[in-house]
Amino acid sequence: MNEVLSNDVVVPSSGTRCLKKNGVEYFLLLNETLFSCSRINRSAAEIISLCNGVNTLEDISKILSEKYKVELERVKKDVKQTLDTLLSLGLLVKVGEEERSPREDFSISRGPGEIWLFVTNRCNLRCTTCFKNAGVEKSNELSYDEIRKFIDEIITVFRPRMIISGGEPLLRRDLNKILSYLKDKGLYVHLTTNGTLIDKNIVEEWRSIGIDFVQISLDGSKPEINDAIRGNGVFQRVINNINLLKENGIKFSLYPTITKLNLEDVPSMIELFCSLSGRETFSGAFFAPVGRGSVNKDQLSPRAEDYIQLISNLINERKTMLRFKNLIGFESKLDRVPGNLTRKLNCGLGTVTISIDSDGSVYPCHWLHLTEYRAGNIRTNSFREIYFGSEILKNLRRLRVDQLECCLGCPWRYLCGGGCRALALFSTGLLTGADPYCKFYKFYFEHALWGNWV
Ligand SMILES: C[S@@+](CC[C@H](N)C(=O)[O-])C[C@H]1O[C@@H](n2cnc3c(N)ncnc32)[C@H](O)[C@@H]1O
Ligand code: SF4
Ligand code: SF4
Repeated sequence: MNEVLSNDVVVPSSGTRCLKKNGVEYFLLLNETLFSCSRINRSAAEIISLCNGVNTLEDISKILSEKYKVELERVKKDVKQTLDTLLSLGLLVKVGEEERSPREDFSISRGPGEIWLFVTNRCNLRCTTCFKNAGVEKSNELSYDEIRKFIDEIITVFRPRMIISGGEPLLRRDLNKILSYLKDKGLYVHLTTNGTLIDKNIVEEWRSIGIDFVQISLDGSKPEINDAIRGNGVFQRVINNINLLKENGIKFSLYPTITKLNLEDVPSMIELFCSLSGRETFSGAFFAPVGRGSVNKDQLSPRAEDYIQLISNLINERKTMLRFKNLIGFESKLDRVPGNLTRKLNCGLGTVTISIDSDGSVYPCHWLHLTEYRAGNIRTNSFREIYFGSEILKNLRRLRVDQLECCLGCPWRYLCGGGCRALALFSTGLLTGADPYCKFYKFYFEHALWGNWV
């Protein structure tokens, strides 16, 4: 039973450590192997210190009730709540019961969580950074019927989120037929577009199709910055078209790729993009130095230190504060770490993520459309044959953070999973090399876990 009873004795599970940081008024209870973690206050930390392998829930409650002169039943309720929560996270274990084993992240039977489908390589823009080197249509792009056949096959077993990308997807005349088919089959549809070709009719159709999300690329908060990358007049066209999405109630975000060209503009992009989209969150892509992005990559790629500086400035400017409940007595509330920090053994390439190019070639991720990582083609084999049978994908799945020399002993390894293997390859020439943003990840995890930006 996942509940602590009066006579139960619970202890920290093996590997669980209670960390204290100077200047912070709470603790972090962390199990690196499970990657399970919780922020706890002083009261909860005191309760845990009494979990010595002998004391029962009843004993602990009595000790604290006497010490703080608080009614026993009230203390017991709080102690139980604390122990129950930590037990459910695997940070505590009942004496005599089996410890929780780390979750197996590579259950491929569920299939990929997301599939990128590049519907064309044609593009009306020639962004200087484009990882797809998009512009001209490939001679052998998938037809509507081929895409439909592929969808029919995958939905018999999988339910991936579909990321529709390109080139510019809106240049396909049958785009809405494809989107409609995906939605008819009950899949989540996320469209990426440069936003320049959106018009009233298209948006109205999207609304009736029920498209889930539209991601519009914009690489700056002003024309000078965006248009230097995406082309003259693009900024204003996108801004004009956004209203059409708003009027039709379609969920969308504006999404930049961060390079040295727009790094300093990020605070202004946050202001502008959030106000235009009505969203409170902002995200952008790390720059991948591949395709056209590989030209002048040294002038374009931000360094890890640049990101650290950027985030530090944002934190300072916005005076981000931890939502911390400083409770008196034994209302031992636990402040869980953000839910999006989960255990990872690698970045998910070839497992969670799969990418299909406009000619039907299957790759482990959208940045690794390289011949040596081509796992097959949906024209010649079924998707399932490729996903389960490709030796390339099988080998990539074996690549876990524990095998990366650069990550040995890193306290965040099961949270980070070793960073992005594609970025590591572009930076070092080796798929097993170090991710160039490692320092930034360490900074990020440290702050995300401690919750405070001290
Ligand atoms: C290749 S585009 C295709 C869809 C559409 N044409 C567009 O621009 O949004 C998909 C996404 O990749 C981003 N992107 C382009 N080049 C990139 C690079 N070198 N690294 C990371 N993301 C990049 C784009 O900004 C866009 O958000
Ligand atoms: S990033 Fe998008 S809009 Fe720009 S060239 Fe590539 S595919 Fe076209
Ligand atoms: S933070 Fe750096 S060293 Fe640690 S797991 Fe991630 S990439 Fe590896």
